[in-house]
Amino acid sequence: MQLKPIEEQVVVIAGASSGIGREAALRFARQGAKVVVSARGDEGLQSLVEEIRSGGGQATAVVADVARYEQVKAIADKAVAEYGRIDTWVHAAGVLLFAGFEDTTPEEFERVIQVNLLGQMYGAKAALPHLKSTGGALIHISSIEARRSFPLHSAYAASKHGIDGFIEALRLELRHDGAPVSVTQIMPAAINTPLFSKARTKVGVKPVGALPIYQPGTVAQAILYAAQHPVREMIVGGAGKGILATQWMSPRMMDAALLRVGWWIQKTRERRSPDHPDNLQEPIRGDDRTTGDFSRWAFRHSLYTWMQRHPVIKRTTLIGTAVTTAAMLAGRNEPNKR
Ligand SMILES: NC(=O)c1ccc[n+]([C@@H]2O[C@H](COP(=O)([O-])OP(=O)(O)OC[C@H]3O[C@@H](n4cnc5c(N)ncnc54)[C@H](OP(=O)(O)O)[C@@H]3O)[C@@H](O)[C@H]2O)c1
Repeated sequence: MQLKPIEEQVVVIAGASSGIGREAALRFARQGAKVVVSARGDEGLQSLVEEIRSGGGQATAVVADVARYEQVKAIADKAVAEYGRIDTWVHAAGVLLFAGFEDTTPEEFERVIQVNLLGQMYGAKAALPHLKSTGGALIHISSIEARRSFPLHSAYAASKHGIDGFIEALRLELRHDGAPVSVTQIMPAAINTPLFSKARTKVGVKPVGALPIYQPGTVAQAILYAAQHPVREMIVGGAGKGILATQWMSPRMMDAALLRVGWWIQKTRERRSPDHPDNLQEPIRGDDRTTGDFSRWAFRHSLYTWMQRHPVIKRTTLIGTAVTTAAMLAGRNEPNKR
């Protein structure tokens, strides 16, 4: 499957007013794509469109709540009306609820699933007719929590696991039908975005992603790569790969590690009352940044993610590591010839 170069693409980004989506929109526009940016917060979208246009790029904003299918469809309709087609749909919209399962109300659980899981399905549903007609890329931002849940994230992790299941079935169906659509799941580790300052927290403090934390540019690079190369999935952040590899080898070992550190590594010392404004139901005004509050500790690059964007180097490194390991083991087992 051949995907177009970025400068020839029309790209839709759902969840673009801040964080990963905003960073990706700026990079797509800088490379010449026409971008349609969407979120609930009009202010954040307008400042993004202005920033893109002042840099010579082309952008249009659509206010939409991804939990409402008709609003998501309106994003696709606007993209086609304005620019004639959709080449890439990036679905980044998401919210975080930081609370123990027993403290989570049914309404809160439902809202997280509506936004994080149903929103992603609505995005795919709205985008697919267009992507199938001209060929293109469907890119879903989930999380490493699509494969390994953390404590105090039962609703969030359930929504992300749901995305993983939904995408696997969809990808097969599209392949079966010979549809010219690349479906990519991007699974970031902890990323320094406003997600944590906007989250609803019920544990008395502001949350943080489990360190190490990466800058949103690392995810944006993966998104731009997937828009041009049909790739099944990408993990962003070597730490994420480490967690998923451990989970694959021994879920019990991962349980033991999280039982030891899973609570405190996700908490800051900043106190938060349960009434602190959050973006679960409505957008928060004035938090339309790409980066969050943890830039001091955040890595700008991930070697592991860089290797995924350079598959030949990755393959060579893997083969080299396998050969070296096999040689070392053979050496250890070789009988003493003397
Ligand atoms: N930061 C991390 O550590 C991390 C790690 C793994 C995965 N992720 C995932 O990455 C994605 C982007 O998050 P981020 O870290 O960039 O956080 P963010 O800065 O809070 O961005 C979330 C975006 O989603 C939009 N959004 C939220 N609810 C929405 C709704 N109901 N309808 C439409 N748009 C909505 C927000 O805009 P409005 O509020 O204006 O609507 C914002 O543009 C999320 O899916 C998140 O789960 C993040």
